[in-house]
Amino acid sequence: MTTSAPLTFTTIRHLNACVGQEVTLQGWLYNKRSSGKIQFLIVRDGTGTVQAVVVKKEVSEQDWEVASGLTQESSVRVTGWVRSDERSPLGVELTVTKVELVQLVSEEYPLSHKEHGVDFLMSHRHLWMRTPKQATILRIRHTIERALRAFFDEQEFVLVDAPVLTPVACEGSSTQFATDYFGDPAFLTQSGQLYMEAAASALGKVYCFGPTFRAEKSKTRRHLTEFWMLEPEMAFYDLEASMELQEQMLATVVQTVLARHRAELQDVLGRDVAALEKVQAPFPRITYDEALVRLKEAGQSVVWGDDFGAPDETVLASQFDRPVFVTHYPAACKAFYMKPDPSRPEVVLCADLLAPEGYGEIIGGSQRIDDLQVLEERMSAHGIPREPLAWYLDLRRYGTVPHSGFGIGLERTVAWICGLEHVRETTPFARMLTRIYP
Ligand code: 4AD
Ligand code: MG
Repeated sequence: MTTSAPLTFTTIRHLNACVGQEVTLQGWLYNKRSSGKIQFLIVRDGTGTVQAVVVKKEVSEQDWEVASGLTQESSVRVTGWVRSDERSPLGVELTVTKVELVQLVSEEYPLSHKEHGVDFLMSHRHLWMRTPKQATILRIRHTIERALRAFFDEQEFVLVDAPVLTPVACEGSSTQFATDYFGDPAFLTQSGQLYMEAAASALGKVYCFGPTFRAEKSKTRRHLTEFWMLEPEMAFYDLEASMELQEQMLATVVQTVLARHRAELQDVLGRDVAALEKVQAPFPRITYDEALVRLKEAGQSVVWGDDFGAPDETVLASQFDRPVFVTHYPAACKAFYMKPDPSRPEVVLCADLLAPEGYGEIIGGSQRIDDLQVLEERMSAHGIPREPLAWYLDLRRYGTVPHSGFGIGLERTVAWICGLEHVRETTPFARMLTRIYP
């Protein structure tokens, strides 16, 4: 093992700006082919992969031996000339002048290039994340997080961090992870919303962005037990103003991903980018009642009052070419804090945003109850204890205002934008009903 470092390094992402220069890359051997006197090393460095061509008569005997002996995932420093190559997705390849070993992998690498089952891959997530597809997804997730933060920063929102340990349920007591808090029960947060409502009365427009937890017993392609949610909350916004913010936000995020990752989306993930290009505001809006008619026409059996299941959401979303808002759900199937529609109190001022192509609900939001008495009634109807939420009731006592907010699930958004079958690939180390390793 050597540790001596050459003077300058380049990353594969920036190689196409270095045509005609000699550069040094540091990374890992992803794959290798050889044809007698030439070896084709596929090197990855975290920013991408490139083919590095080693020609026997152009390198030292020692370097040729090193290249010949390289095994999958051995770590290396490779120096060479950057040449244009039209066949490469990157547009360039490297003609190698020097190969320096950092570590030779001598044990058999568990993730060989043959096909593996999902369970095996998930158990080797720490290695699976090195493959081009998985690394691309994580890079796009990063871009989405950054684009979201930039959007809210530009809109002059204040980032307010919500607590992770809480004494109450925000989204129903059946999916809480309980823990012992010095002898009292406490729960991992399901949502930072209630705290954001307090912060909105202090700062106007706020958001939190962090991990949230749900002890979901459901084993579906959309559910994780730990997922990241971004939750904006806006004083003086009604439901319509909140929906306008949501469509601007999502259009901006999708455009940012397209601008930065178009080639990876197409070449590595096989994503239909034309479908993403259609994600422009305004998004269509239908009410729950209209959705019910559409579902019945499509042969789904739903009755008024039921929440929609994943198949219902897929049917609805397939009727539109961009995300669709479904508004005004029956109060009975939604959370306690949603404001009843003054003209029809059996429904609430809420909107779920369904992503196209079968990805289902990616945003849930609503206008909140701003009246103390209505809130107290709703809490008792939902069996929510008042004492731990006394502070929340205070917000309706001291300068209450109309306000709205929403929560966007990061993993479902990444799955949709990347075109992935399952949310387990959208997060570095997925937590699910049957998995907490690695
Ligand atoms: O609709 P939900 O439950 O809404 C709330 O938690 C509100 N308190 C948000 C708010 O108004 N501030 O969840 C919001 C979003 C969903 O649309 C979905 O994208 C995601 O969070 N989500 C999950 N993602 C992965 N796995 C799960 N188990 C999820 N549960 C919700
Ligand atoms: Mg929801």
